[in-house]
Amino acid sequence: MSASRTDSTPPPPTRSALKSSLAVTLLSVLAPILAVTVLYRHEPFDPASLPIHKLPGTVAAPMQNGRVLGSAEMVGAGQVVGPEDVEHDPASGIIYVGCADGWVKRVKVGESAGDAVVEDWVNTGGRPLGLALGRDGELIVCDAYKGLLNVSKHGTVELLTDEAEGVKFKLTDAVAVATDGTIYFTDASYKYTFGEFIWDILEGRPHGRLLSYDPATKETQVLAQDLYFPNGIALSPNQSFVIFCETVMRRCKRYYINGERKGHIDTFIGGLPGYSDNIRYDGEGHYWIALASGTSVTGDLAFKYPFIRKAAAILERLNRRPAMEKNGGVFQVDSEGKPVAHYYDPQLSLISSGNKIGDYLYCGSLHYPHILRLKLD
Ligand SMILES: *[C@@H]1O[C@H](CO)[C@@H](O)[C@H](O)[C@H]1NC(C)=O
Ligand SMILES: *[C@@H]1O[C@H](CO)[C@@H](O)[C@H](O)[C@H]1NC(C)=O
Repeated sequence: MSASRTDSTPPPPTRSALKSSLAVTLLSVLAPILAVTVLYRHEPFDPASLPIHKLPGTVAAPMQNGRVLGSAEMVGAGQVVGPEDVEHDPASGIIYVGCADGWVKRVKVGESAGDAVVEDWVNTGGRPLGLALGRDGELIVCDAYKGLLNVSKHGTVELLTDEAEGVKFKLTDAVAVATDGTIYFTDASYKYTFGEFIWDILEGRPHGRLLSYDPATKETQVLAQDLYFPNGIALSPNQSFVIFCETVMRRCKRYYINGERKGHIDTFIGGLPGYSDNIRYDGEGHYWIALASGTSVTGDLAFKYPFIRKAAAILERLNRRPAMEKNGGVFQVDSEGKPVAHYYDPQLSLISSGNKIGDYLYCGSLHYPHILRLKLD
């Protein structure tokens, strides 16, 4: 035994072997740095500085629940993949969701979350995102790839609009219908499609627009442009303004549609503790803002320094970008934009909507195969 051990002991390294092993070590350290430097230099993607110096500090809600997954239920488990938005028809009790496979599905929740019945209703052939019931029982759908759609109550799909002022929509995102019939909606980007949305976020330039569509004249109007990924829209109960969320800027703005401030824009809430997605009014004095992800040191640095976003873009191209989204959830504010409550979980990411239906909050997302349901009490 001892003899064989002696036999396998390697001979002491010679000088030249030491040298070459040092070279290998150096090379293994330097090569990736060199590669990244070369890639960085030749990477045409050129992110911009964001005007974040103008942003307020992060706000906190007086009520917090940072472990919502412990008590959350799954509705439609396995049958609704990536239900981005959640719309509810109080008359029929039906919940509409737009899924990753192009289906707008109808969900009927029974006694418990587990016995929900899911029906494939209409396939848009694109990617349905924002949903809002119209005045004639139709469902207005923002399809990321197709534009603004009218799905009649019989399931017929009609394109309402897909461009404004000669610029095509590339990422039709969120919609709300006013009591006068006007449809307010957003195009998050005229440059990148839904499948490329991460590039819009990394680039940090305002490619989004706030729009309206008048069903009487069939006219599409640009209400505001140069917006940072406008994602989520809600009308105030008295119809004096529409609120839209700018994901990248962690804020929601107000665009006045009536009264003496008509046409003006101000901030409804800034410094959100995460990246705002859809916003919904609950009819009871509160808005619910979905936060796709909470803030993080890496996220903050990336938004501050374009070179970090450029490095992230290189990693994205190599399919090596680390997932940074966590602490997704929903932020509740009152009618004046004052924080009320924050529901989130370290494990949650890409939460895209929160809709309060009865005593429950129904949450949509970009990737989970279910609707998350939280009991509010
Ligand atoms: C959608 O289509 C239905 C059926 O044709 C119609 O009744 C409804 O008014 C349309 N809605 C809009 C906003 O065009
Ligand atoms: C509409 O509601 C907002 C708060 O949501 C309030 O500040 C505003 O004064 C109201 N406007 C009218 C005309 O009642």
